Amino acid sequence: MATEKQIRESLEKVMVPGVMRSLNGLNLVRQLAISDKEVKITLSSTALNDETREWLTTKTKEVVGKLSGVKKVEIEFSEAKPAELNQIGNIIAVMSGKGGVGKSLVAGLAAIVLKRQGYEVGILDADLTGPSIPKMFGIAGRPSGSESGILPVLSRSGIEVMSINLLLPQEDDAVIWRGPLISNTIKQFWQDVLWGKLDYLLIDLPPGTADAPLTVMQSFPISGVIIVFTPQDLTAMIVRKAVNMAQKMDKAVLGVVENMSYLYIPEMDKRIEIFGPSRGKEMAETSKAPLLGQLPLDPELAKLCDRVEIEKYDSEIMNAFGQSLKQALAQKKTAP
Ligand SMILES: Nc1ncnc2c1ncn2[C@@H]1O[C@H](COP(=O)(O)OP(=O)(O)OP(=O)(O)O)[C@@H](O)[C@H]1O
Ligand SMILES: [Mg+2]
Repeated sequence: MATEKQIRESLEKVMVPGVMRSLNGLNLVRQLAISDKEVKITLSSTALNDETREWLTTKTKEVVGKLSGVKKVEIEFSEAKPAELNQIGNIIAVMSGKGGVGKSLVAGLAAIVLKRQGYEVGILDADLTGPSIPKMFGIAGRPSGSESGILPVLSRSGIEVMSINLLLPQEDDAVIWRGPLISNTIKQFWQDVLWGKLDYLLIDLPPGTADAPLTVMQSFPISGVIIVFTPQDLTAMIVRKAVNMAQKMDKAVLGVVENMSYLYIPEMDKRIEIFGPSRGKEMAETSKAPLLGQLPLDPELAKLCDRVEIEKYDSEIMNAFGQSLKQALAQKKTAP
């Protein structure tokens, strides 16, 4: 007779339609009972509509029924809230005191590099009035779900994405909301979205230190924040503002990222510091956190963003950024 381990492993093959992650990946397997030649599996029906539930029942019976010694498979469903099922290793918020410095890009690149390293990754676009993640990743599909929750949409490389843009009737609809509505929507992204089991969830914050970033910090169990800046005037003040906010909310600053640090001209093998000399070291000192990366202004990157092929971007610098990020998280965990 198949062991519990074998049965659980076989459930890895059952993909939830709409999001294409497995029953295990979405943490939907609640109970497993084996008696004699019979297997009884209780799945959570969270965010699943009737059709999906039926499909999953058939598929699970088929997959488990094939295992040695299994004569009968019974499937039951139970209710649970998405927040009860979400198991996320690290939640990282990407912020900046200023707009247009490349927060969304850094959040996107961090997700891509971690996914490439074999982790399960998600991105929450918490910028409700200027969402840019779905555009960057070329995602237009509508999330599926039920009364009990919604499922994120998967990017081409398998990153879970949730954004207000995916829920609006028209992608270009402007969201003109007042503070409380924004707060509630962000909270719902935690309470009502079934992220399942993720190693990393990146949160792309709107610019500044106003309501939305505050709500994110209060509502999500954040491991730490990444602060993005460019080597321009007033940067120090802007970074300090972001650091102060993180500290006030009792959140660790994992590190800082300097974006648009320089432009590299391969023909001349020369770096031009378009926005002035690097302030990376200074900002790392200001925030008492490591400099996780210095990203160049890369025309290739801009091109890939326009073509919604950002997931194809590959560079040494990006890989190094991924490594530094993991190191910063590991250090934070061992810190007293
Ligand atoms: N290093 C870079 N090389 C090339 N283009 C870049 C780079 N960083 C950012 N960009 C481009 O600059 C624009 C702004 O970047 P992004 O949207 O990531 O900034 P943001 O800080 O999230 O902005 P907002 O405050 O509006 O949310 C985008 O079009 C992006 O493609
Ligand atoms: Mg942005």
